[in-house]
This record gives sequence, C-alpha cells and structure tokens, in this order.
Amino acid sequence: MPDFDLVFRNATLIDGTGAPRRAGSLAVEAGRIGLVGDVPEGAGRDEIDLGGKALAPGFIDVHTHDDRALLAEPSMAMKASQGVTTVVVGNCGVSLAPLLLDGRAPPPPLDLLGGTGDFRYRSFAEYLAALDAAPAAVNAACLVGHSTLRVGTMDRLDRPATADEIEAMKTKLGEALDAGAVGMSSGLFYAPASAAPPAELESLAALLRPAGALYTTHMRDEGDHVLDSLDETFALGANAGVPVVVSHHKVTGRGNFGRTTETLPRIAAAQARQHVGLDAYPYPASSTVLRPVMVERAEKTLVTWSVPHPEATGRDLAELAREWGVTIEAAIERLQPAGAIYFMMDEADVRRVLAFPSTMIGSDGLPHDAHPHPRLWGTFPRVLGHYSREVGLFPLEEAVRKMTSLPAAEFGLRDRGRLAPGFAADLVVFDPSTVIDRATFEAPATPSAGIELVLVAGTPVWRDGRPTGSRPGRVLRRKTA
Ligand code: ZN
Ligand code: CU
Repeated sequence: MPDFDLVFRNATLIDGTGAPRRAGSLAVEAGRIGLVGDVPEGAGRDEIDLGGKALAPGFIDVHTHDDRALLAEPSMAMKASQGVTTVVVGNCGVSLAPLLLDGRAPPPPLDLLGGTGDFRYRSFAEYLAALDAAPAAVNAACLVGHSTLRVGTMDRLDRPATADEIEAMKTKLGEALDAGAVGMSSGLFYAPASAAPPAELESLAALLRPAGALYTTHMRDEGDHVLDSLDETFALGANAGVPVVVSHHKVTGRGNFGRTTETLPRIAAAQARQHVGLDAYPYPASSTVLRPVMVERAEKTLVTWSVPHPEATGRDLAELAREWGVTIEAAIERLQPAGAIYFMMDEADVRRVLAFPSTMIGSDGLPHDAHPHPRLWGTFPRVLGHYSREVGLFPLEEAVRKMTSLPAAEFGLRDRGRLAPGFAADLVVFDPSTVIDRATFEAPATPSAGIELVLVAGTPVWRDGRPTGSRPGRVLRRKTA
C-alpha cells in the first residue's frame, strides 16, 4: 500500500543546512515532507525519477517588493522560475499596507509598488486577507514599511514624527504585528523617512520584541557614511532588543570601492554582541527611483521606466540627455516620475559580501518596472550557476544554505528551508551542471535555465519552463507559523 502522495527517487539531496549532498529519495505527504533518504519501494502513489538531479528546499527571497505582484501576477513566474517558493515583501520601508491613498499619488519610492489606486488597504489585516482570498503560487512573509506608516500618518515627511504621530504609527504597527506581519522595514535613505531620527525608529521598534518580530533596513547611507549607518542600525537593534537585517548590503560610489573590507568586519564584530543579518543580490548595479544623487555616484545609469517618457525605457541616461540636447539634470527632471539602474559597485565587493557566511540572498527585484533590473528574474540561478559553479565563490551546498535554512531561521519560518520530515514540501529540482541566469540588462525578463520543477506545499507551480497555474501559496504569519 502506498504511504505517500509523491516520491522523488534517484535525487541528489541538498538539504539546505550546508551539509554535503547525498544520493537518496524523498517522500511527500499532504503538502509536507514525509521521509528523506531511503523510501521503501512502491511507497508513492506517484513516483518521479530525478536521474541524479538536485533536490533542495524551495528558495526564500528575503528581499522583495512583490507586495502587489502577489495579487496582480499570482503565477509569480519571475520568482517561481528561479526556484523561489517564499518571498518576503515590504522591504526598504515601503509596504502596500496599511495605507489608503484616496486620489493622492504615492510619493517615491512608494510608487515602486504601484499607483494611487493600488494603495487600498486601510489595515495590514485587510491586505493579508486579500492575499488569503486570492493566493499566489508562492508563499509570502510580510513586513510593515516605516515609510508607509509615515505617509499614512503625517502631513509632512520632512521632519521627525511628533509624539502623537508616533502613537498613531504604533497603533498601526501593533495591528499589523497582530495580523501576522513578521517585522518592520525602514528606508532611511529615501525622502519619506530620511528626516526620521533614531528615537522615532526606536519607539516603533519597541513593539517588535514582544511580537518576536525583526527589523530590516535600507540604511541611511551606503556610500561615504556607510559605517555610521551600520552603527545606527546596530544601536537600534541593541536598544530595542531585536534582530536586525541590513538590506542589500553594498558600498556605493567609486571612492568607496573596496570598503566591504571595513563593513564586513564591523558587522562580524556586532554579531558577537547581538543578532545581525544581511542580504545581497548578485550584481554590481543597483536599481530604484531616478534620483540625481544616485546618478552622480554611478558610472552609468539606465532608465527602467518613466511616466511622461515611456519611450526612454531601457535607454542610457547620458545618451538620452545628449540626444535631447539638455544637461543630465534637466533630463532627470523631464523623466520624473521615473526609475533607473545604477552601475555603482565594485565586483570584488559584491563577491566579498556574497561569500560572507551570514549573507542571505535577496533579489530586490522590482516587478512593476517596464524594463526591470535583471535581478528580478536572475538572482537565484546566478548565485548557483555563476557565483558558485563558474566563479567557485562557495560550494553549491553553501549557496543553497544562503537561500533556505539561513533565511528561514532569520525570519522565523520554522517549518521551511530544510529537507526534513515534517517540513513543508516547498521544493526545487534543478540541474547543478546547467543552472544559470539568462536575464540580462538588455533582456531582463528572461527565465533562467536549469530549474526543472518547483513545488509549493507539494503542488507543482513551475514545470517544463512555465507556470502550472496552481496557486498553493500562503501567507506565513509569524504568530501562527
Ligand atoms: Zn532598498
Ligand atoms: Cu529594496
């Protein structure tokens, strides 16, 4: 009598912990992993021979802006195609909820998530209920954005919040944590939050510890003052007694190239005292809204979208300015609101950060951009195929650990990220010898190669190079996870 819904045979098991791969089989029952290693003959109602292909826990994309994509593009092809089975949304201080924008345009960078009509969830519970009612192919763990709280609470954003405003934000944050948010994110680099002093953040972060939630941050400065920003982040974590995650860690601008030799030891020293995590994407170019201060620092800037000039999408900003016969500054002005890709990092820094043992992988992909940064479609296969196999930055098992058990532990996703009995059957089958990203800066929306089958809770969501149409994803609430 078969005991299991599905058995994978002849697999190379990469269990997510970093342990060496081993040959074996794995059984799935009722959406969970039943057995790992040796599964008796004929135990599966359905059996798949993997012919030695790798079987690993589904990848967790810890840094996304997929808040609205989960609802608007529920197949989540840009993520499922990479083997991603869970996304963490609401990063960089911007979440879709809680915020009701009646007719007002979202201030940048909230507009990375959508337009006026898309901010329609008065409470975080309403947003999570919308995800429950219309599930996506992949799971979601949700952060509340500090900038979103500010925009929904304050009449002006160029000053610290008053005591009353902090109370109002705390009420909203508390509701979100009760509803199942896994933490709060900040984007202190961006205008909606750059006037927020540490005390404001600390008042809010005080709610995180009792909820068992964490704090993630796009820091105030990733350039000349990156060490000060790290210290600010550590101080917040220590004062509030919460784990912190430094988002998309990097150092930007030519003058700062090589300075991860300073930042990583600083992070390691802090880790001896408190809980500090970090994530990174595997490219030397960043992407966000179009801003003069970023353009100045970049070697080269590409336009990813522009409301008044959609024809500028994908173009080099300097070329465009020349063509228009205007200065770069004037061209930036003309394109607003707009987004861009900035080449502003050193490859050696990118590698050093990726190789740092506690670095998790996060795409930071922008799913609504007309011509997105290739990280949206390429991040995970690029780490596996390029940085692990081709460059030899770390073994494949370590690459998988950075995408599975490590982020599951950081974000409190207790039954994800490992091949172990009882864990959710979020799984990816891939070919270690061919897996690679194919998304480029020229053709960014190109699915990767070598990701053969992706399952969420035992249900295939990506197979034979396309979405299956199934939508077994769930909201992973901290309280009930
Ligand atoms: Zn960011
Ligand atoms: Cu981000």
